[in-house]
Amino acid sequence: MNIVGSIFKKPKLVQVITTAEKVVKVKLSNGHEMPGIALGTYLGFDKNGVIKSENKQLRDAVLNAIDLGYRHFDTAAIYDTEQEIGEAIKMKIDSGDVRRSEIFITTKLWNTHHKRDEVLTALKESLANLGTDYVDLYLMHWPIGLNKDYTYSDVDFMETWRGMEDASKLGLAKSIGVSNFNEEQLKRLLKEATVKPVALQIEIHPQIIQTNFVQFAQDNGIVVMAYSPLGSLVPRFGMQLPGPKMDDPVLTEIANNYKKTTPQVVLRCLVDRKIVPVVKSVNAKRQSDNIHIFDFSLSKEEMDKIYAFDSHTRFTLPSFWQDHPYYPFEKIDQPIADPFIKPTSV
Ligand SMILES: NC(=O)c1ccc[n+]([C@@H]2O[C@H](COP(=O)([O-])OP(=O)(O)OC[C@H]3O[C@@H](n4cnc5c(N)ncnc54)[C@H](OP(=O)(O)O)[C@@H]3O)[C@@H](O)[C@H]2O)c1
Repeated sequence: MNIVGSIFKKPKLVQVITTAEKVVKVKLSNGHEMPGIALGTYLGFDKNGVIKSENKQLRDAVLNAIDLGYRHFDTAAIYDTEQEIGEAIKMKIDSGDVRRSEIFITTKLWNTHHKRDEVLTALKESLANLGTDYVDLYLMHWPIGLNKDYTYSDVDFMETWRGMEDASKLGLAKSIGVSNFNEEQLKRLLKEATVKPVALQIEIHPQIIQTNFVQFAQDNGIVVMAYSPLGSLVPRFGMQLPGPKMDDPVLTEIANNYKKTTPQVVLRCLVDRKIVPVVKSVNAKRQSDNIHIFDFSLSKEEMDKIYAFDSHTRFTLPSFWQDHPYYPFEKIDQPIADPFIKPTSV
């Protein structure tokens, strides 16, 4: 072979696998597919209520996330982030980087709209905020109904579910599901629903692994989504809470086996359980770390070491609602005060 021939060989066709393609897709029971990691977008709350995005911080975080390969965004009417998510998605669609059909949007119905006809009103408002004519997944945020003045409403969550079913039948939500239901409530829903829930979003991290409940949901064809997946590794409500931290020696040893970080190990543990992590970050480096979890897998022994942290500890425990007839969690002796700012007029 002459030299020229060896230098100017025909280029081989190399398929470039993007991160978005590496993210596993989870099949929902109605045939739709959900990208196997979601970007969380709840910015938390302080004394003034839910923290709002400033200077388009969230929009820019979503733009960056799309560049990194995130295709699934988790929001809720109460987070006040729908608008900036919609803005970012529109920018990326307009620039030709993604199509709407490649993006999966999950949003949630807030507790003050649990009457059947209020569900569609609330969803239409979310759709307007998001600038889209459908969401991929609409979740009932809690089984708890509240009146507009935040007093308890005794509306049955099955009545609310009928409104969710209306949304599904109208195509305004491609799929419907629930969040913060307990096992008994989910059993009743499965028995009485005409349109079955395809997803359940609950708190799961090393300190609350929810083995039986996850198994029950998965056995019934429901995809489980894990919120607050980093648990005590990161500060919560501005505090370091008890539990394993980023430098935990057990997690660090596992992480070193794969040249990964401890948050990546904790997230991968969920993926290995066929659970979809919903992880929030507005930081480019951390967003990138969090999505690079689809190129390794934990051994059973490593998973067992992570399960050993389980202490059934919830960080989302709205005990101020614990006297509500549909409160899903265990009651505690000294409930905390309701942090939600109630409307002054209704
Ligand atoms: N259904 C429900 O009732 C419910 C309840 C709670 C949450 N959620 C959803 O779940 C999402 C996630 O839950 P979450 O926000 O409570 O908890 P999380 O995702 O476990 O933790 C978020 C915190 O960890 C930091 N972080 C993210 N990645 C990191 C990394 N690789 N290394 C170090 N720190 C990292 C973030 O800060 P930076 O942003 O600065 O990186 C943020 O402070 C929410 O945003 C929301 O969408 C749903």
